[in-house]
Amino acid sequence: MTGKKLIARQIVIEQDIIPRVPYDFTLVDLGSGDCSKTRYVIDELLKRQQNLSFFPVDISREFLLNSTKKLREEYADSLVVTPIGADYQQGVEQLKQFKGPKLILWIGSMINLPYDVQVDTLRMIFTIMTDKCRLVFTGDITQDRDAILKAYHDDEGLAQCFIEYAITRLNKEEGSQIDLGKFTYQMDFISDQNPNHMSYVTAYLEAKEAVNYPIPGLGIDLIMTKGERLYFHEGVGFSCKYTLKQLQNIAQKAGLILTNTWSDGQKHAAFCCCTTV
Ligand SMILES: C[S@@+](CC[C@H](N)C(=O)[O-])C[C@H]1O[C@@H](n2cnc3c(N)ncnc32)[C@H](O)[C@@H]1O
Repeated sequence: MTGKKLIARQIVIEQDIIPRVPYDFTLVDLGSGDCSKTRYVIDELLKRQQNLSFFPVDISREFLLNSTKKLREEYADSLVVTPIGADYQQGVEQLKQFKGPKLILWIGSMINLPYDVQVDTLRMIFTIMTDKCRLVFTGDITQDRDAILKAYHDDEGLAQCFIEYAITRLNKEEGSQIDLGKFTYQMDFISDQNPNHMSYVTAYLEAKEAVNYPIPGLGIDLIMTKGERLYFHEGVGFSCKYTLKQLQNIAQKAGLILTNTWSDGQKHAAFCCCTTV
């Protein structure tokens, strides 16, 4: 996370990803998280306009309310924050009533969605944009297989722990007694340079032997033969990686025009700016 924050800061400061327009923006942040990256954008916009209306949208409502409380204290009257604790679809629905120029951020969130959902979400964002609006979203562009594999097979076993936590929760919350010792954690990076696809990480538990575990809370049994895989993501994979052409195509399929991209010096990630015309 620290690395990503540094990248965002470096790009904002050195390359000015915030579109310069002769009117004031309202700021929208879809999947705003702790708003730590949004602050760079807020600070920059407040250099250009006196006040800023800010609509952070996040499905994690309580966390969102905490983050926005801090922002209100910090920025006082210059920032008017209206948190929307909802999923993207409900958030976009509520935002339809605000017709003015919007700068919409979708940062760090697209990469864990299936391809079609990425396109559909961008298309949904398109519906609240006019020619005076701009969308800035991010995508990982690294194709460094070794670095990616290391990130999900780290020496401390953090990624494995993160993935296996799904089973820990099933045992805790749904009354199962699944023995993780009966599985091996596996992951892979699938590189796909087709301009209409994307590369991705896949992670799964592979059964070392035949297993049969009832999951009482769900009313189902986990039955697997030796070598069978239990995947931990929707669609083909997660942590998607893109070429710039692939990013351009995703935007285009959603009706958007990718007008500009910026990346850090090591080409880890790209910020993409889109318009409707
Ligand atoms: C990877 S974090 C990114 C947070 C922040 N934008 C950043 O870059 O630091 C994704 C955020 O999106 C939120 N989120 C995930 N799915 C969502 C959905 N369907 N609707 C709204 N928010 C969602 C999560 O709660 C989380 O705060």
